[in-house]
Amino acid sequence: MSEDRKLKLGFLGVGSIAQLAHLPAAVKAANVDLVAVCDASEEMARDIAGIYGAREWFTDHEQFLSNADVEAVLIPVPDPFHAPLTIAALEAGKHVLVEKPLALDVPEAERMVEAAGRTGRQLQIATMKRWDPGLQYAQAFAAGGMGERLTVSGWYCDTRYHGTYVNTHWPIRRFAEGRRRPEPPAPCHPLRWMILGHGVHLIDTLCFFGGRIAAVTTAVSSKYGSSGICGTLEYEDGATGTFQLTCTVTMDWCEGLMVHGERGSIEAKIGFPYWKAGSEVRVFDAAREEYRTPATPDSDPYERQVEGFASAILGGHDVSPSGEDGLHDQRVLEAIQTAVETGGRARV
Ligand SMILES: NC(=O)c1ccc[n+]([C@@H]2O[C@H](COP(=O)([O-])OP(=O)(O)OC[C@H]3O[C@@H](n4cnc5c(N)ncnc54)[C@H](O)[C@@H]3O)[C@@H](O)[C@H]2O)c1
Repeated sequence: MSEDRKLKLGFLGVGSIAQLAHLPAAVKAANVDLVAVCDASEEMARDIAGIYGAREWFTDHEQFLSNADVEAVLIPVPDPFHAPLTIAALEAGKHVLVEKPLALDVPEAERMVEAAGRTGRQLQIATMKRWDPGLQYAQAFAAGGMGERLTVSGWYCDTRYHGTYVNTHWPIRRFAEGRRRPEPPAPCHPLRWMILGHGVHLIDTLCFFGGRIAAVTTAVSSKYGSSGICGTLEYEDGATGTFQLTCTVTMDWCEGLMVHGERGSIEAKIGFPYWKAGSEVRVFDAAREEYRTPATPDSDPYERQVEGFASAILGGHDVSPSGEDGLHDQRVLEAIQTAVETGGRARV
């Protein structure tokens, strides 16, 4: 990173994913100064500030947003808090990197994007796979040398060993009384949270490679506590694709991508996120009649994500993926839910 100055960053929420991924990433990031943390749990806010070297800690988010010496806020809080806390942070003049999914529904997501526009602050969604160096290498080919896209397909299958992997990877665990949790959700379609929480990664990656999606169809299978949603995708540029979202599979994490275009193809095997390894990618470039595979030593997508966020703000250019990208994801997720409920084709 070439900037002389570092972005003064604060964390609003220091729970599971903050400790597993974002705090280590922010401390390692070359252009980030982790200044302050806020958590409703006093013990967690104080302990995490000490562990990660944040100079200030808060338990009240309004005081944090008014008084912390930060330019930007990373918001890894439960989904129902994304919209209110993001809008509060933007209105306090902070740039925001918020966890996925952007919001609970499209109207909330629209309000977040509107607040970013109104306040002139940047809003980025933390779909960190766009910062995986293997996927970035492949996407650069999809957006250039590969030519017109024909099909863009992907699969995301969570593993029965998810919890075991989480325990294996946790660097320094701190949980305490006083954490703020959302109210239990109102009764809803049994696949709603799977579509929102897991589906957003799959859909965001497919949009990264294929652009905007216009319509979807789905077929669903639910048995022995697991569910699979398979579907078709119609992209706005006329390409088509398929997706599979399964939670959970009786094997290891299984996520990948296949893209075919006029002058080449892409295969990607995407690993379990907390391994923080670059995806295994193979590009076939028909112009040279050769397969290529990138080396990806700088591979932590969470670190690259926060560095990219800081770099955009320090450099005065737009963040990516933006709030608008998150809003499009939200519209596709809502269309998938509609297709699941009606059994028909749903327009985005
Ligand atoms: N990108 C990924 O790989 C990934 C993985 C897991 C979870 N997530 C997302 O991360 C988000 C957070 O999930 P989690 O499991 O880490 O949540 P969590 O409940 O473990 O942690 C959230 C923390 O935020 C604090 N908090 C909530 N509201 C607050 C407020 N108003 N003021 C101060 N503190 C507040 C809570 O006290 C808690 O400590 C979710 O949106 C989830 O979907 C992303």
